[in-house]
Amino acid sequence: MAGKAEEIAVDPDLYSMAAGYGAVDDFQSETTSIASNIARGRLENGRRYQAIKEDDYWGPSDDQQFEAFEICHLVFLVVDHNEPNPLFHAPITETPKNILDIGTGKGSWAIDVADMYPTATVRGVDIFPPPVTWMPPNCVFEVDDVNREWTWREPFDFIHLRLMYGAFDPEGWDRLYQQAYDALEPGGWIEQMELDVRLYSEDGSLKPEHQLYGWGPLFIRCSERAGRSLRTHETMRDAIKKAGFVDVHEKKYKIPIGPWAKDKLLKEAGHLQYAHWNTGLEGWAMWLLTHFGEPKPWTKEEVQVFLAKVRAELKNPAIHAFEHGNRVWARKPTREEMAAREAKGKEVPVKAEPST
Ligand SMILES: C[S@@+](CC[C@H](N)C(=O)[O-])C[C@H]1O[C@@H](n2cnc3c(N)ncnc32)[C@H](O)[C@@H]1O
Repeated sequence: MAGKAEEIAVDPDLYSMAAGYGAVDDFQSETTSIASNIARGRLENGRRYQAIKEDDYWGPSDDQQFEAFEICHLVFLVVDHNEPNPLFHAPITETPKNILDIGTGKGSWAIDVADMYPTATVRGVDIFPPPVTWMPPNCVFEVDDVNREWTWREPFDFIHLRLMYGAFDPEGWDRLYQQAYDALEPGGWIEQMELDVRLYSEDGSLKPEHQLYGWGPLFIRCSERAGRSLRTHETMRDAIKKAGFVDVHEKKYKIPIGPWAKDKLLKEAGHLQYAHWNTGLEGWAMWLLTHFGEPKPWTKEEVQVFLAKVRAELKNPAIHAFEHGNRVWARKPTREEMAAREAKGKEVPVKAEPST
């Protein structure tokens, strides 16, 4: 799926699934509560939010949302199933010492990477403690706001971010990438994976009258009123470059929602992505609509009525919707490259001899 993504063919047997996609509704939740103020968070409209920083982050941190993170982790593993390493694409050293996962959520990526590199320390940082009861001994979870000044002493070989869309304003993103640059070893890598919250269809089956058609633009407008745009997938590449990273790579994805694709891998991804949407929906919508909805903030009940309509469309096999995703990975210059850059900067331009 490298470079420009190809059109996704629709499974011709799809219409035999008369009941829609209901069979994948029943993902189980398994979260253990941690008795501390931080873990109690802040409750609003029936959802739990982080409580360590004053400015709100739009997403809840509760059982339901952790379940959504876990399903999405599986979606990303499935779409890159044919890659040598579906967890990340950056060609990091074979023996990394320190790896950082920013906004680790449920910690699934950090745990898998810790298992992959048993001699590395993999740190997952988040504003809410990940609900894990067991982790590999080389995996460490920390609660902190990554937009504050970093205090980690050891340099990192690799820094990873996933689904951090809408977490920061442009200055916040610049500060974050700059801190990541400074904290990496020369030659170390950064990688970020993001989704576009807008939905598309290639066969016109997603129509302007559908709620799902306006879904993405609505949430982008809400996030922009909140001052932290969800269009991170569009801005991250340039922002990463601006921080000084080189050797910048990008891979684009199309991820179906629902098992409508003919291709087996995409069908599996779509099946999971349907479950991800069903589980994640309310958490994506509640804070943004009740604080920044239009024409005025919505009530909890208005959000729930809207979500019921969205759920009905999600399980309609006649709608062949998909989301775009982007993965960007880039390298901090090596010591030699930095020295060469510096030498070039110091070079005195040679003045041309005046012609006689
Ligand atoms: C959409 S979730 C993605 C979780 C995880 N990266 C994944 O892919 O499953 C975004 C995560 O970023 C965390 N987050 C948001 N702002 C943060 C900040 N300033 N510092 C640390 N974590 C933050 C949230 O608490 C949430 O767990």
